[in-house]
Amino acid sequence: MLKKIMKMWQILNNDIAIDLGSANTLIHLKGKEGIQLREPSIVALKIEDGKKSVVAVGEDAKKLVGRNPSGIEIYHPIQNGIIVDDAITEIMLRNFIYKVSNSEVIRPNPRVVLSVPASSTQVERRIFKEVLTDAGARDVLLVESNLASAIGAGLEVESEKASMIVNIGSGITEIGVIALKSPVVKNTFKVGGEKLDRAIIDYIKFNLGIKIGPETAERIKKELATPLESEANESDFIEVRGQAAQTGLPVKFSVNKRDVLLATAKVYEEIIMGIAQTIEELPPEVTSDLYEKGMTICGGVSKIKGLDVLIESFTGLKVSVAKDPELCVINGLEKVIELLNKKD
Ligand SMILES: Nc1ncnc2c1ncn2[C@@H]1O[C@H](COP(=O)(O)OP(=O)(O)OP(=O)(O)O)[C@@H](O)[C@H]1O
Ligand SMILES: [Mg+2]
Repeated sequence: MLKKIMKMWQILNNDIAIDLGSANTLIHLKGKEGIQLREPSIVALKIEDGKKSVVAVGEDAKKLVGRNPSGIEIYHPIQNGIIVDDAITEIMLRNFIYKVSNSEVIRPNPRVVLSVPASSTQVERRIFKEVLTDAGARDVLLVESNLASAIGAGLEVESEKASMIVNIGSGITEIGVIALKSPVVKNTFKVGGEKLDRAIIDYIKFNLGIKIGPETAERIKKELATPLESEANESDFIEVRGQAAQTGLPVKFSVNKRDVLLATAKVYEEIIMGIAQTIEELPPEVTSDLYEKGMTICGGVSKIKGLDVLIESFTGLKVSVAKDPELCVINGLEKVIELLNKKD
């Protein structure tokens, strides 16, 4: 009994950090080591007689993407970092919070620290709060994700000398130049891993006449993408399966690093333009801080080989890839929770 009460007390007191990404949702529970949940931000619903019921959420729902089982619809309720469907986001969050609370009896009412894109409007922020509250949160604190990722990447955000963080995620690239814990300049661009996937799908369809699904495109990107000509060899290839656009028959074909560079070059250009635009907006003193300190890139796309070199060659700034680049936001939120608890 005492154990049960202690557990309930722990859960009720548990602060949670959530990084609600366009591709992945990550959750950290206060007092626990690392990340307790990392699942795709995807929900699969069955629609029968106009009624919707949940089929799968997260990892299980991702398995259904591109397979189109009849009567089942796949939802990506977070797009470009923003909630596009309140009800489905709530279903997803309830499911994730329930999973991490690891309890069948107790309905968790955690205090939630949530990252939001710096570009989100007041209305969008209110929706984040409402959806979280409806999903069971007792209190919701919003933290701009460029600050969270800078903290998580270990940048000196408290210093008067500016640091620069570029978080290239699935739906958005968020850029922050931060000094004294506040943004000097912040920008969000709707470009990231998903655009790379789409560029690969389109290229293969138009040039090879083969249709591929989003999962295959993501695999091609992860295995072959590089923005560097010198790395993009035709001899580096993988075999994948698709569907002949004309006949609908299944086909096996090979795709190489050069194809992938040709497909994706425009997307890298868009990322570089965003970074260049942000640097142009900076006061000269801040730019000189950055020449001294360089910039850090994070987010899933920062794992692409050579992206740091490309950005370095365009900007003249030293670029480093953060450690565990996909975890920077959630790691930063974990530190915010620690600070909040010190104040309590
Ligand atoms: N090794 C890799 N090479 C290339 N791309 C990768 C790699 N690993 C992950 N990605 C891509 O990174 C993206 C996911 O990154 P991340 O988890 O940072 O996004 P997110 O936080 O869900 O999205 P956002 O911040 O845009 O809302 C996906 O597009 C994924 O395919
Ligand atoms: Mg993200």
